[in-house]
Formats: sequence, C-alpha cells, structure tokens
Amino acid sequence: MISEPLRNPLSLFDVKGKSALITGATGAFGRATALMLASSGVKLTLASGTESELEEVAKEVQSLGAQVVTIAKRPDSLEDARAMLDLALETYGRVDQLVVGSGYNKAGFIQDLAEDDWQAVMDANVKGPWTMAKVVGSYWIESKIKGKVVLMSSVRGRHGNVSGYTGYCTSKGATDALTRVLATEWAKHGITVNAIAPTVFRSKLTAWMFGDDEIGQATAKRSLGRIPLGRLGEVEDLMGMTLYLLSPASDFCTGQIMYVDGGYTAG
Ligand SMILES: NC(=O)c1ccc[n+]([C@@H]2O[C@H](COP(=O)([O-])OP(=O)(O)OC[C@H]3O[C@@H](n4cnc5c(N)ncnc54)[C@H](OP(=O)(O)O)[C@@H]3O)[C@@H](O)[C@H]2O)c1
Repeated sequence: MISEPLRNPLSLFDVKGKSALITGATGAFGRATALMLASSGVKLTLASGTESELEEVAKEVQSLGAQVVTIAKRPDSLEDARAMLDLALETYGRVDQLVVGSGYNKAGFIQDLAEDDWQAVMDANVKGPWTMAKVVGSYWIESKIKGKVVLMSSVRGRHGNVSGYTGYCTSKGATDALTRVLATEWAKHGITVNAIAPTVFRSKLTAWMFGDDEIGQATAKRSLGRIPLGRLGEVEDLMGMTLYLLSPASDFCTGQIMYVDGGYTAG
C-alpha cells in the first residue's frame, strides 16, 4: 500500500484552517510569515507594539482573503502574552501555531554597552519567547492540542561577532537552549518546538548594514565573505523553512536549530 504522504506529498504542507499567533508581526520576518500563512489558508492573530504598522500588515493579509485580528502589544509580560492568546481564542476558538517574530538588537562593545541596553536585548529575545511559550504551551497542554512553535534564533547564537554583540549573541544562544528544553519537556504532549537561525537578511534590524553607514557596510561585507552562496538573505529565503516547521511535514522534527544561512555555518 502506498501511504498518503507518498501519494500526495504536498499534503504534508497543508496548514489550511489552522490558527496562528505571531508576535513581531510588523517586522520583516513577522510580516512575511503572516502573508505566507494567509496565502496558505491560516487564520491570523498578529501582535506588535506599533498599532499603525500592524494595521498596514492586517490590510495586506485581508487583501489575500485571510481572516486577521490584531493586538498592539509586545510580549513584555505574561499579561501581554495572555491578552494575545485570549484575543485569538475569542476570535477563532483555538490556536495551533505560535511564531515569535519579535526581537531586538543593540550593538556596542561590552565596555560601552549600558546595562539597560543589554537587558532590553535579553528581554526582547529571551523573556519574550519564554513568556509566549509559557502562556500558549500551558493552553495547549490543558487543551491537548499538538501545537507547533517557531522561535527566531540567529547564526549569532553559535558564532561570536566582532561588532559588539555580547547582548545579541548571548540572547540567541539562550534561544537555542530554550528551543531544546521546551522540545524535550513538551514532546510527550506532541508539541514541537524549533528555531530558525538565519544569517543577515534585510529588515529594520539590519537596515544599517544595507545603507551608507560605514560600520554597517563593513559588518555586511564581513558576513557576506562567510556565505558560500554569495549573497545576504531576503526574508523570502526563510519562508520554506517556516512553513515546514508549522506543517505536518515537520511532525518528527523538534528541538532543532534550523540554519537558513546560505552556508554561513558550514564553513
Ligand atoms: N534581520 C536579520 O538579519 C536577522 C538575522 C538573524 C536573526 N534575526 C531575528 O529574526 C527576528 C525578526 O527580526 P527582523 O529582522 O524581522 O526584525 P525587524 O524587522 O526589526 O522586526 C522586529 C519586530 O520585533 C518588534 N520589536 C522591536 N523591538 C522590540 C522589543 N524591544 N521587544 C519586543 N518586540 C520588539 C518590532 O515591532 P514593534 O517595534 O512594533 O513592537 C518588529 O515587529 C528577530 O528575533 C531577529 O533577532 C534577524
């Protein structure tokens, strides 16, 4: 007998009718994920701190014919995360997918970096994902839903960087650890947790590397020199992996840091 995945392999990527909660939905990765999932028939709850930008993304999602609600919050606290989940549950009755697309960086050599700046990076990149995972994962365990989590790491979770990334690299190393711990804790509930680790792709976070800024250009050049595929990333490069990690195709994949980096970490 030929099984369904072998007869109809594209069904492995079928996410139609699912409900996704995305933080950082106004960012390059969050917006692209929202649009890609909208085009795949997913119902969306979008969160970010900037209401006007959130409305713009919501309009784009609606133009693709998808259902969407928005909430102007960052995952700063358990209350904020709970408010996001509550909105999704009131609107759609369930959540199947969590994508933490919110994140932040403040570069600076350790001798110059203010403690508050380091803390802001850790809060955005570590506390945010932890908070979202705690709230949404608890709901999944209670409701017996086999949810899927995608966190955003970076090649910086594994590689040091000479651009003053003690906050950012430390936070992404923590994201990798959080991914593995949650994956093992929740495996018995059928919940999968994975992270995507890109190299530089164009976004607000990296705009300084794509413009006239001298240090930005040098940083981009250095990254480029390490990428065998010979170019920096674009957010579309991440969408195949994102869909894979949110779809049945990845049901036996958990706790992994998926490098989508043009070969950066291979060398
Ligand atoms: N771009 C890259 O080259 C690259 C490479 C590797 C990994 N990543 C990771 O990919 C994820 C998405 O980044 P991106 O490039 O799409 O960045 P982006 O375009 O700057 O988007 C970041 C998002 O996070 C929100 N945000 C900004 N500051 C925040 C804070 N302090 N706390 C919570 N949320 C905050 C922003 O929305 P509001 O300001 O409206 O809240 C925005 O929606 C991040 O985790 C980033 O570290 C990016």
